[in-house]
Amino acid sequence: MKGVILAGGLGSRLRPLTLVTNKHLLPIYDRPMIHYPIECLLNAGIRDVLIVTGGDHAGDFLRLLRNGKHLGLRHLEFAYQEGEGGIADALRLAEDFADDDKICVVLGDNIIQGDIRQAAGDFFSQRSGAKLLLKEVSDPQRFGVARFEGEPGASPITEIIEKPANPPSNFAVTGIYFYDGAVFDMCNSLKPSERGELEITDVNNFYLQRGDLTYDILDGWWTDAGTIESLYRATNLVADGGANKVEGRPHKSAQAAAGTSR
Ligand code: G1P
Repeated sequence: MKGVILAGGLGSRLRPLTLVTNKHLLPIYDRPMIHYPIECLLNAGIRDVLIVTGGDHAGDFLRLLRNGKHLGLRHLEFAYQEGEGGIADALRLAEDFADDDKICVVLGDNIIQGDIRQAAGDFFSQRSGAKLLLKEVSDPQRFGVARFEGEPGASPITEIIEKPANPPSNFAVTGIYFYDGAVFDMCNSLKPSERGELEITDVNNFYLQRGDLTYDILDGWWTDAGTIESLYRATNLVADGGANKVEGRPHKSAQAAAGTSR
C-alpha cells in the first residue's frame, strides 16, 4: 500500500500565519506539521509516499523533506496542484503514483495520538472498496459526519454529510482514508460542491452506495490543525501526550480498532 498526503490549500483560516508559508510547514510543538502525517504512514509500515501541495511555497517542502530518507521513507514524490479545487481534486494527481495499488490518504493537517496499523492491515485484507476512520467529537458541525443505521460504531453508516448544521451523530470522518484503485474514476466524475470544491465526502458516499465502505473508530486523540484554535490544541496535545514519533522515539500502540462494520 502507498501513502498520499494532501498538503495544498490556501490555509485561509490560519491567516496571517499562512501569508508567507504553507499551512503544513507551520510548527506543531517541536516539528513542522507535515512530519506528523508522514509519521502516521511510517508507523503503519507505508514508506512510499506522494505529497500533493501547491501555492507559492511548494519548493519549501523539498528543502525541508529532501528525499525523505532521513525520516525513514523509501520513496518520496511530490505533485503540484494548480488552484484550490478541493481534497478530491488534489487526490486526482495521485493516480499515476498509485498505479492501481491501494492507497492510504492522509490530510496534512490531521494529527493522531495512536497509530493506524490495525486499520491498514485490515484494509490490506479487504478485497476492494474504501475504509474510513471515525472519531467522536464535540463539534461535529466542522467536519464530515456519519449517520448510522443504528448504534454508532456497531452498525453500518448510511450517509456522510459534509459540515451539517444538524449533525446526525457526533462521529466525524477523520482525514485518514483508505481507497482502492477505483477512487480515481470517482474523483473524475465529481461535480463541484456549493463551495466550488470536489468533496472527499462525495467520494466516500459513492463507495457507500456501492456497499463497499468499512469503518473503524480511531483510538486515542485526533485533531485537525487548520484553524487557530485547532492548531493551538494540536500543539498542546502533542506537548502533553505525544503523537507518534519516529527516529527511535517511543510511541504508544493503538488498541485493536473497535467497531468495524461493513
Ligand atoms: C475536510 C473534509 C471533512 C473532514 C475533515 C477532517 O474538511 O472535507 O469531511 O471531516 O477534513 O479534518 P476541511 O478541513 O477541508 O474543512
